[in-house]
Amino acid sequence: MMSLAQVLPQSATTTPEGHLSVGGCDLVDLATEFGTPLVVYDEGELRSAARRYREAFAAHAPDGEVLYASKAFYAQAVLRLLREEGLSVDVASGGELYAALRAGFPPEHIYMHGNAKDAGEIGELLDAGVGTVIVDSLDEIGLLDRMAAERGVRQRVLVRVTPGVKPSTHSYISTGQLDSKFGFSLEGGAALAAVEAVRAARALDLEGLHCHIGSQLFDLAGYRAAASLLADFGARHLDGDLRTLDMGGGLGIAYTRGDEPPSVEAWADAVMESVRTEWARVGLPMPRILVEPGRSIVGRAGLTLYRVGVVKDVPGVRRYAAVDGGMSDLLRPMLYGATYEALLANRADAEPAGALRLVGKHCESGDVLIQEAQLPDTRPGDLVCLPATGAYGVSMASNYNGVPRPAIVFVDSGRARLVTRRETYADLVARDL
Ligand code: LLP
Repeated sequence: MMSLAQVLPQSATTTPEGHLSVGGCDLVDLATEFGTPLVVYDEGELRSAARRYREAFAAHAPDGEVLYASKAFYAQAVLRLLREEGLSVDVASGGELYAALRAGFPPEHIYMHGNAKDAGEIGELLDAGVGTVIVDSLDEIGLLDRMAAERGVRQRVLVRVTPGVKPSTHSYISTGQLDSKFGFSLEGGAALAAVEAVRAARALDLEGLHCHIGSQLFDLAGYRAAASLLADFGARHLDGDLRTLDMGGGLGIAYTRGDEPPSVEAWADAVMESVRTEWARVGLPMPRILVEPGRSIVGRAGLTLYRVGVVKDVPGVRRYAAVDGGMSDLLRPMLYGATYEALLANRADAEPAGALRLVGKHCESGDVLIQEAQLPDTRPGDLVCLPATGAYGVSMASNYNGVPRPAIVFVDSGRARLVTRRETYADLVARDL
């Protein structure tokens, strides 16, 4: 089990009976009490990730802000916990805005994203008094300005730019390149046109720039490259209007045993040093820095428990083990070819007995959680644990095949609390008229 330590919460241990335990709670007991699939988060791990971010950035820039990118996981329990830890929040839709307001984030500390915000969402954010809007298109700038003016309010904005940096990650989660649906490219004058449009707007105040170069990044060089391009743009076009710079999120986490992501502290150092060096080079005063981590706050804190229902051998080919969830609760393997580890929570000490294909219960051949899972001899009834499913797992879940979305439990100091109940069959038809 211990070779998997970096993909599990730090509180993970094996009990004398050989059960995996997290946050002082035996996972076999949790599966019995709450059913499966079950998503379990270690509260201590969530809090410590939030604190490490806050402290790492406070050490560099006391006036900076760490915004939690709520798309990674936006249950009320995690939003309240991260608000208590002093984080601000990034929302990317009216629904995420609703969740953040409901969890008690002060509107001033909410940052609203979205490449296609509609008039409904713009009305919602203006009515809520959201502090900062990250504008993504000229159409949006026009609409936001009109609607803010109609209400007689002024809206602070950051302009989202795509610096033309292509980090090494999956193309679906790489966002900073020129050919992107997001933001305004520095190349070709789009970013400058956006800055001019905001300056000309009646009701918008230009606060600075935003960029997010990609997600699940291990290589920090992209931040320096982005900072360099942003500094040149700022020096040429922004003078005093670059008070705030939002460098986005993107720090990767370990999904499998070979993964060695940079630490939060190393990431913070790289981001801050990049900006400091590049701003000094062009002779601009240091801006207030915002960052927007999502995955690296919640990813490692969460794990998913599945019950094995079926084990089947295809002679001469392979063994399959099918569990009671799959692509409906964890789409990442199918969507990105993402890889995960697996272990048996009920026999955490048992030696692996070769590879098997861990599959879900959906009517799709591609519903594979792990192509080659190294598991002990696995039988129906075993409890499989997939570590590091805390980010973009339940937030990307669906009801495909009428499979109810899983329950979510938070564990801390030997206590478990249900924070999101399991969906019921009645929930599946509740909206149908
Ligand atoms: N800020 C912006 C503007 C973003 O677009 C994102 C992620 C973040 C912050 C947070 O990035 P993080 O720190 O989590 O890397 N569903 C994909 C990830 C999509 C990320 C989209 N944007 C996945 O499961 O890997």
